[in-house]
This record gives sequence, structure tokens and C-alpha cells, in this order.
Amino acid sequence: MFISFEGGEGAGKTTQAKKLVSYLKDSGYRVTHTREPGGTVLGEKLRQVLQDTSSEVTPQAELMLYAADRAQHIEQVIMSALEAQEVVVCDRYCDATVAYQGYGRGLDLHMIERLNAWVTKGLFPDVTFLLDIAPEDGLARIMRDRRPLDRLEREQLDFHKRVRGAYLKLAGKQPKRFRIIDANQDVFTVSEHIIREITSLLYRVS
Ligand code: TMP
Repeated sequence: MFISFEGGEGAGKTTQAKKLVSYLKDSGYRVTHTREPGGTVLGEKLRQVLQDTSSEVTPQAELMLYAADRAQHIEQVIMSALEAQEVVVCDRYCDATVAYQGYGRGLDLHMIERLNAWVTKGLFPDVTFLLDIAPEDGLARIMRDRRPLDRLEREQLDFHKRVRGAYLKLAGKQPKRFRIIDANQDVFTVSEHIIREITSLLYRVS
């Protein structure tokens, strides 16, 4: 099973992905926990470039760097883990490109769709948890943690609002794959919700 986590900045995806991975491992599943950008040696280098506030990256270059990261990731990590019957939990995937580079940056959506399909060889998650939060609240969480904002987090509030709207639109179009979770709740409530959803899905496929 292929599970992805999506959402705006400060939605708590990473914490929730970790919690789900621990739950699945404790339940006896073999799990590959990975992320985009990242997950491979090349991907982690690309992640640094993409998040670095001192590098100037054009929207087109940004799109290609995320696509390069994904091409490597699919080939080196995701495909082989799925072939080995592992559960793959991925912190961001294709939907992030549609939301950030498509709606956020305003790049051509058809081209992004084609690029995503080509790079992933048509491999999309079985389930995607969209951790939904108002950008004002998500960004405030990051500030509360006193962590410096990275290159994308520093974008204008309008950019983040477009990203949120895009994710909700994607979820509305693919209700079978997406589970929208209200991320403005405490960590345990969110985690319980996710685990309930996954348990019922795993029960159905087993
Ligand atoms: P994260 O680890 O906080 O999710 O950081 C990843 C950043 O990269 C986040 O700002 C979203 C951005 N991103 C894109 O813009 N496009 C993509 O395709 C992916 C995977 C991530």
C-alpha cells in the first residue's frame, strides 16, 4: 500500500507520518518511510537547494528540480519497496507539485499533470491524507517553534492560500483517494483519526 501525506506549511504532516509509521510497524507491517523532496542521496541534496533562502530559483527550474527528485525517488525507493510488499509512507508526492508549482506559482497545470504521470510512470498513492489548516495558523505554528522559515515558507500569504485551495480542489476531485483531516486539532486527535482510516483500509484489502 502506498500512503502519502500532503498539506500546507505547519500542518503537522511530518509528525503524523512518523506516528502512523510507528503504529504500522508495531502492528507488524514492513514500512518504508520516505519524503519528497528527499528520500535518496540525490534528493536530499536537491532538498537543500530547494529550501535554501540564498538561492534564486525560477518557477520553471523549481518544477524541474522537484521532478528530478521524484524521478530518482520512484526508481530507487518507492517502486522497490512496493514490489517487496512494504507499506510506503511518503511525506509529500505529486499533489504537492500541482498545489505549489501549479496553483502557487501559476505554471501550466496540463504540463504538470503530464510531467507527474511521466516521472511516476503512473504510480499514484492508494490513499492521501490531506492535513488541512488555514495558512495563517500553520505559519504561526512554525513561528511558535522559533524555526527559521525556508524558501517556500517565506512566500506571501496569498501563495499559501492558493496552495490550500488547490489541495482542497484536488481532494474534491478524487474523494476515493483523499482523506481530508482537520489539522487544527491536537496531535493525538489527528493521529487517532488517521489510524482509524488506515485500519479500515487495511482491513478491507487484507
Ligand atoms: P516539507 O518537508 O515541509 O513538506 O517541505 C517541502 C517543501 O517543498 C514544502 O514547502 C513544499 C515544497 N514542495 C513543492 O513545492 N513541490 C513539490 O513537488 C514538493 C514535493 C514539495
